[in-house]
Amino acid sequence: MDLITLKDWDKEDILHLIDEAMLIKEDPEKYYKVLKGKTLAMLFEKTSTRTRISFEAGMAQLGGHALFIDWSSTQLGKADIKDEIKCISRYVDVIMARVYGHKKIEVMAENSSKPVINALSDRYHPCQTLADLLTIKERFGKFKGLKVSWVGDGNNVCNSLILGCRKVGIKISVAVPKGYEPIENPDLLTDEVKAVKGADVVYTDTWISMGQEKEKAKRLKVFRPYQVNKKLLGKALFMHNLPAYRGYEVTDEVLDSSQSIVFDQAENRLHAQKALLLRLMGKI
Ligand code: CP
Ligand code: NVA
Repeated sequence: MDLITLKDWDKEDILHLIDEAMLIKEDPEKYYKVLKGKTLAMLFEKTSTRTRISFEAGMAQLGGHALFIDWSSTQLGKADIKDEIKCISRYVDVIMARVYGHKKIEVMAENSSKPVINALSDRYHPCQTLADLLTIKERFGKFKGLKVSWVGDGNNVCNSLILGCRKVGIKISVAVPKGYEPIENPDLLTDEVKAVKGADVVYTDTWISMGQEKEKAKRLKVFRPYQVNKKLLGKALFMHNLPAYRGYEVTDEVLDSSQSIVFDQAENRLHAQKALLLRLMGKI
């Protein structure tokens, strides 16, 4: 079993993982030795704060070991990824990779003898969505009947959120400028005010994802009306996967408000991924 996109996971797998993550969060000591002797390889083609540290800390808390590997210090950029991953998967028990092009993570999964985790590609960020669903479950105690509104760029985080919400029965509406639609199929709008009507949660992400730096000037202009400010947020809770660019996609006032649950989301990366590691290694 891999986690490349939530499209491949069924509803029961997702719900079970969220429940297990809650148990792990409640009593982490119970799991201190479960992955003793196991190794996770973490391959990073792009930078990271949360993903790297939460996976590394999580693996240590489960009694295992995590290797941080900067892609550029390996042969991955020069050699055939198929050959490299066949070797890596003979050394370790699970592989996690953050890549630019989504195809690379698919090739890894096809050629690895061990489970592969997508730690963000240009198309998806499933680990983020698992933590987000855990955060929503903690706050609301349920999924059914909730509405999440995405405002901004229809990017990798948005695609995974659409898939995750759909699977667990959350209604999701998406407001993006023309030309920036997600590849997954949501309740799609261009009007941000309409999209957030009746929302329990308003979610946004950076307007400039890693690899899009050259488009910065254009994107800042196109996305300006999609900033999440106090007026747009209304009474909803605010979510953001982070890193956030204050004053662009979100105001300080929103990010620092009591409606903002972004640091719970960030913390829940740890708990959800510990459950994920246990699931992929057959321990739950
Ligand atoms: N949300 C998230 O994936 O953060 P990092 O880029 O810091 O890992
Ligand atoms: N959409 C952002 C998410 C970073 C965690 C990016 O791809 O850079």
